[in-house]
Amino acid sequence: MKKLIGVTIMAGLIATSAMAADIKLPDPDKTNPTTLISALENRHSDREFSDKVIDNKTLSTILWAAYGINRADGKRTIPTAMDKKDLNIYVFNKEGIWLYDATTNSLKQQSNDNHLALFQMQDYMKPVSTVLVYTGSTEDYAVMHAGSAYQNVELYTAANGMSSIVRGYFDHQKVQEVLNLPTGQRVIISQAIGWKN
Ligand SMILES: Cc1cc2nc3c(=O)[nH]c(=O)nc-3n(C[C@H](O)[C@H](O)[C@H](O)COP(=O)(O)O)c2cc1C
Repeated sequence: MKKLIGVTIMAGLIATSAMAADIKLPDPDKTNPTTLISALENRHSDREFSDKVIDNKTLSTILWAAYGINRADGKRTIPTAMDKKDLNIYVFNKEGIWLYDATTNSLKQQSNDNHLALFQMQDYMKPVSTVLVYTGSTEDYAVMHAGSAYQNVELYTAANGMSSIVRGYFDHQKVQEVLNLPTGQRVIISQAIGWKN
């Protein structure tokens, strides 16, 4: 019995330490010289992705563009109704699922399982190594905030020779379950990001 308790405690400890693999992201790179007009000219949905993994510096910059803090008072790169921070961005990749924490510029690990198959209903998604999932409150404004954030990401990828596409075609219910979202929170939309093929 003692042995069984010991094994159970060890298993618990291993699970806890594996889930505690949060990532402190490097500072975002704000040096891109592309003009806004050129990014707007190039913005389009891409359906060609390579399987090259996105490095943490680039990921940090993409997430900052989406929903990062751009002022000393903690406000964001997107406008937010009544200053509500009701949007969450999850990063799905081969190593698991991560919640973006803008205040610490870090990724909080939610799972260490690869759930990318949930987004592979269309063939062009097969090589995609990173999917962003926007979630938020069931109130109207979170949806608008997601739209602002995904457009910022599209402008970033257009300005940096990368690919991105906003995607509603996936099993929202399954993603909601995998994320274990609390009542009042829902999956809004997803966005594949990556390098061109
Ligand atoms: C909310 C939303 C959901 C979308 N869902 C999908 C999708 O599931 N699959 C897909 O291939 N494209 C999806 N798209 C991309 C649109 O098909 C694309 O934006 C549209 O064809 C216009 O092309 P453009 O983005 O290159 O201007 C979605 C776009 C938006 C804004």
